[in-house]
Formats: sequence, structure tokens, C-alpha cells
Amino acid sequence: MHVVILGAAAGGGLPQWNANGPMNERARANDPDCPPQTQSSIAVSADGERFVVFNASPDMRAQLNATPQLHPRLGERRHTPIAGIVLTNADVDHIAGLLTVRERQAFDLFASSRVLDALGANPVFNVLNPDFVTRNQVTLNQSFECAGLTITLFAVPGKVALFLEKEGEAGFGTADGDTVGALIEAGGKTLAYIPGCAAVPDDLKTCVAGADCLLFDGTLYTDDEMVAGKESPKTGARMGHISISGDDGAIAAWDGVTLGRKLFIHLNNTNPVWLKTSAERKAVEAAGWGVCHDGMEITL
Ligand code: MLT
Ligand code: MN
Repeated sequence: MHVVILGAAAGGGLPQWNANGPMNERARANDPDCPPQTQSSIAVSADGERFVVFNASPDMRAQLNATPQLHPRLGERRHTPIAGIVLTNADVDHIAGLLTVRERQAFDLFASSRVLDALGANPVFNVLNPDFVTRNQVTLNQSFECAGLTITLFAVPGKVALFLEKEGEAGFGTADGDTVGALIEAGGKTLAYIPGCAAVPDDLKTCVAGADCLLFDGTLYTDDEMVAGKESPKTGARMGHISISGDDGAIAAWDGVTLGRKLFIHLNNTNPVWLKTSAERKAVEAAGWGVCHDGMEITL
């Protein structure tokens, strides 16, 4: 299985257009210890020829142009190696890229009913001509095939898309299927991709245990990171993201679960782990985790 990290950052990317602060300033200056990163997406292939893209980033056009494996093959006037796009939620950083791939190109779109409903409620996504783009409603916990990959979507703790939050309703109106993870299997190898997740209950550990690689939500290092920096009044918990550090954090939660490589993905621009020389980055690496970056390739 071949995996390309198209975008390792959370919504906003690194640097984020309106953000200062240490990580943004270094990225804006092209500091090699903190290089710029685009928004959340990966591409996966069973054979190196046909790819499935997971999440359609607002940076998708730049990501596709920067990734030779995803260029049209020579010989045909129109072509793409992308056979399908799978969505793990309906947040802007995971759906806006669909507007980039609207040029009469056949591919399959896969998502939960909740996420497809979010697209269906917004007529701008009608730019995806149904004669070319098939919207496939995925049943959670039931595997499907695309381009030689066996893919299973499963609900994870999380939150409805930011723009669909309903004030006053429990969990802001969140329901099962608003945020999912993906198990991706090919050639006897398994990749678990969970870019957004609010907690790691035992059933999630059981579902993912034994994977050869886990790509997991690394949005924030500490829950109050954006509050402390006065970037936002929201904690990670309020945004549906578990933090990397702490007794309730992701490192602690996954400790003891049998996994191959463990890598954080979907990091926010405030996360000190971006900086390769930071104490937080060293702590993450000492705990046996790595950090994804744009253009990173993983072979399983
Ligand atoms: C998130 O992951 O919390 C969202 O991408 C936030 C957003 O849509 O801006
Ligand atoms: Mn996001």
C-alpha cells in the first residue's frame, strides 16, 4: 500500500492567512525547522497506479499539482489516477476541495449519510455533475472496495461540521456518522486514518488495534492552546478534537494498543509540535509517535 500525505495541517493550514505566533511566523519565513503545510488530505493506492483520496482539502489543486503520482497519465486528453474520494466529515477543510475537481471527470465519492446530506443541502456542490461523479452512501462498519482498496468507515467521537452546529442541542446536534475514521486494507496491510476524533473509547482501540499504521488527530498539543494564545475562545474538546498531551490525551490513550507506525496528522497552526526542535516535538517522538508533513510517503 502506498500512502502520500497531501496535507498534514488542520483547517487554516500553516501558516494560516490571518495568524501570527511562533509556528506561523517560522512557516511564513520558510524556516526548515517549521515548513509550511497544506490542509488535511491523504492519497492511498494499492497498486501505485489508481489512488483514493481521503478528504478534499481547500488546497487540493496545489496538492494535486505537487504530487506527480496524481497527475494525468500521458496519452489521454483527460485522465486522473484518482478513482475515488472518501470524506471523513463535512468540515470545510475536508469538503471544499470538491469544488476543485468539477471538470467532467468520472470518480466515485464515498461518505456517510450525514456527510452526504451536508453536501446535498448545499447547491454549490451541484458543480459535481452526477453524470460523472457518483455519490455513494457508505454504511458504517460495512466494507466497500475502491481501486483495489478495501475501506471500512466507522463512527468516532466527534462533532458535527462547524457550520452545521445547532446551538442549544445536545452535542450541537451531532449524530453518528458526522465524524468517521477509515480502515484501509490492501496486500495484507492495514492503515487506520482518523484525522478528527474527540476521545479514544475502548471500542475504537479494538477496531484499530493491529493496524500497520495509524494516522491520528493531532490538532492541538494542549486542550486550551488556542484559548491561552487568545486565538479562539474554544478548547480542543469544544471543537471535537482530543489533544496530544496529558492524562486524557492521545498519546496516553493509544499507549498499550498494538500498532505499527503511529503518526499525528491534522495539526493546527498553533501546535508547537510543528517545530522540529521544540520540547513538545521531542516529547511526541520520545513517546514513539511521528508527525506527518506534506509530501511524506509511507509504504506498507
Ligand atoms: C476542525 O477540524 O475543527 C475544522 O476543520 C474546523 C473548521 O472547519 O474550520
Ligand atoms: Mn478539520
